[in-house]
Amino acid sequence: MNEMYEIYKQQNDLYDQLINHEDYEKNLQKFLSENFDFANKTVCELGVGTGRVTRMYADKIRKASLFDISEHMISRAVENISAYSDKAEFKILDNKNTEQIHDNYDFLIEGWSFGHLISDEENSDFWIAKLISDCKKIAKTNIWIETMGTFVDYAKPPTEKLNRFYSELKKNGFSETIIRTDYKFDSVDQAKHILGSFFGKGMEEKIEKENKTIIKEYTGIWTLGS
Ligand SMILES: C[S@@+](CC[C@H](N)C(=O)[O-])C[C@H]1O[C@@H](n2cnc3c(N)ncnc32)[C@H](O)[C@@H]1O
Repeated sequence: MNEMYEIYKQQNDLYDQLINHEDYEKNLQKFLSENFDFANKTVCELGVGTGRVTRMYADKIRKASLFDISEHMISRAVENISAYSDKAEFKILDNKNTEQIHDNYDFLIEGWSFGHLISDEENSDFWIAKLISDCKKIAKTNIWIETMGTFVDYAKPPTEKLNRFYSELKKNGFSETIIRTDYKFDSVDQAKHILGSFFGKGMEEKIEKENKTIIKEYTGIWTLGS
């Protein structure tokens, strides 16, 4: 099992540290509030993690159903969005089983979660088509957020599988926006520890070599519907 899955299973605290250092300029929050009206709306969020994206819209919405495969990640999300517990319900769900969602929502949001399924599965074309088909039925507006590269010079899908995934989204009518969600750390050692724990030894060595506390991150946002 790679570092990321270990963290999702038993180190939600470390994951929270990672995301709390990401997007120090708050560009994702700005993008969401400038482009979407969440007031009194219903949201289905898949791969909710510890609730990083949820916190960006939770104050405005009427109700959210929040799903993840990891009970451990959900337990942290429950704490992180406790101020909005009256309008949030959490459920365990594997993204492979999105056909099990029968309710309809105004928004379906996923952040950095579908990419795992596409990357891990051999038959990624099947899963891309299934996710698109199921999610279009679930919500009027889809907002899918995925990586376009960590500590790289320019935005680019990090792997061929993700390249196919993002290309298929565009072919299916999603519009693509790329933003910067850079990490900012207090020290090089902190950057090495947190990013290295998640992305592995190669990342730790690159941070050490380049001696940086601000680490570039490119994020793609694919949206369908208004
Ligand atoms: C990179 S984290 C993103 C979490 C959150 N969306 C955020 O923006 O911080 C990926 C999340 O997807 C979840 N995940 C990974 N594979 C999944 C799957 N097949 N079905 C559902 N959730 C999955 C993990 O448990 C983890 O919480």
